[in-house]
Amino acid sequence: MIKSLTKAKKINGIISLPGDKSISHRAMLLNSMSNGSALISNFCHGDDRNAMINCLRGIGVNIEKVESPDTEYSNDTFLVKGNENGNFSTPSYVLDAGNSGTTFRLVSGLLATQNFESIISGDDSLRSRPMDRIILPLTEMGAKITGANDNSFAPLKIRGGDLYGINYKMPVASAQVKSCIMIAGTKASGSTTIIQPKFSRDHTERMLKAMGADITIDNLTIEIKPSNLSSLDVTVPGDISGAAFWMVLASCHTDACITLKRVGLNPSRTGIIEVLKMMGANIHVSNFIEEAGEPCGDIKVQSSELNGVTIEGDLIPKVIDEIPILSLAACFAKGETIIKDAQELRVKESDRIAATVNGLSRLGANLKETTDGMVIAGQSKLIGTDVDTFNDHRIAMTMGIAGVLADGITEIHKADANNISYPSFWKQLSIITGKPED
Ligand code: S3P
Repeated sequence: MIKSLTKAKKINGIISLPGDKSISHRAMLLNSMSNGSALISNFCHGDDRNAMINCLRGIGVNIEKVESPDTEYSNDTFLVKGNENGNFSTPSYVLDAGNSGTTFRLVSGLLATQNFESIISGDDSLRSRPMDRIILPLTEMGAKITGANDNSFAPLKIRGGDLYGINYKMPVASAQVKSCIMIAGTKASGSTTIIQPKFSRDHTERMLKAMGADITIDNLTIEIKPSNLSSLDVTVPGDISGAAFWMVLASCHTDACITLKRVGLNPSRTGIIEVLKMMGANIHVSNFIEEAGEPCGDIKVQSSELNGVTIEGDLIPKVIDEIPILSLAACFAKGETIIKDAQELRVKESDRIAATVNGLSRLGANLKETTDGMVIAGQSKLIGTDVDTFNDHRIAMTMGIAGVLADGITEIHKADANNISYPSFWKQLSIITGKPED
């Protein structure tokens, strides 16, 4: 699909977001390991969610879509039946995680606990992403795993069961990897200790605790002991990674006011708010509540005068999915923005450093790639042209926001990549910019 966009005159409105993808995935997978049934409401939308549901159904999990309770949320509700602490069934087909790294890595942690053989794979992008980062610790725990290209890539053949706890020092800060090890750790004998190099999102730790797991956290060290999980109803907060696109749009447009309702505000995810505030953005957060151990609230963003900043170090895992859209904000800022320590972006759904620099340069921005980030000279004039999404949902949505901020016509090729995480994105963009969808 090609999406044609022109500059928006005014941005105004209230947006409800899809449920947070990371929390939705964990709620479904951890409840599938529990001893009861749980309702998960405001579940995320998109192809990644279908990948998680299909993988879990493939090993015998009973997941049903049910009528949503009457709440302020408008998204789907699922009923998940726990598999009585471990009786999953041998899959009769190759489990397909599609484009979803989180599905692949978390489900692999679960498969490693099972005394049967399974194969898990994904699309071209997923099959090119590093999987040695989960193969090594799971193998050390006792799982038998073989993978493509010298045991480093999907597809993986996994025979699990009889795991034992390990002491693992993670080489990269990754929430997917630590979650995979924690999931395996709940069914290993003895305790599993994970030492993180930096903090990354902690939704798994929070949910495991809420489900009664024997987990302790001491600064960057997580210790998990064999645990039976109690089912937990979860109302998933709105996705802050989806909200990021609207926050940047409102900050960069000269006549804008957007309110985002019930957005997840877990401190390991609010880097986007921290960075935009550092840049001088006009952001106000209110109506704080807590949903299933996760803080959330409403965010109001208005037109702002932004300044360039340096984004590096411990901040990077807190904005890891928001760097493409923050790079667009940097194009509207006064002065230079430097992004470093972000080499992980090269192994996401696309090489997001290359894809972002490619798209924004085509639109006239003045930026260059470095090995671990980019350097962006601010206040460039963006002029519409044709750009590619590289089939990456976050690049598609970044280009979409660029398209309504740039002069002229922006044509986005493979624009339907947004369906991975945010199917209603183009519709909401047309509503918020007051332009009917073509
Ligand atoms: C995710 C963790 C992040 C993020 C991804 C979702 C998760 O990856 O980029 O989109 O749900 O655990 P890392 O494994 O690099 O932290």
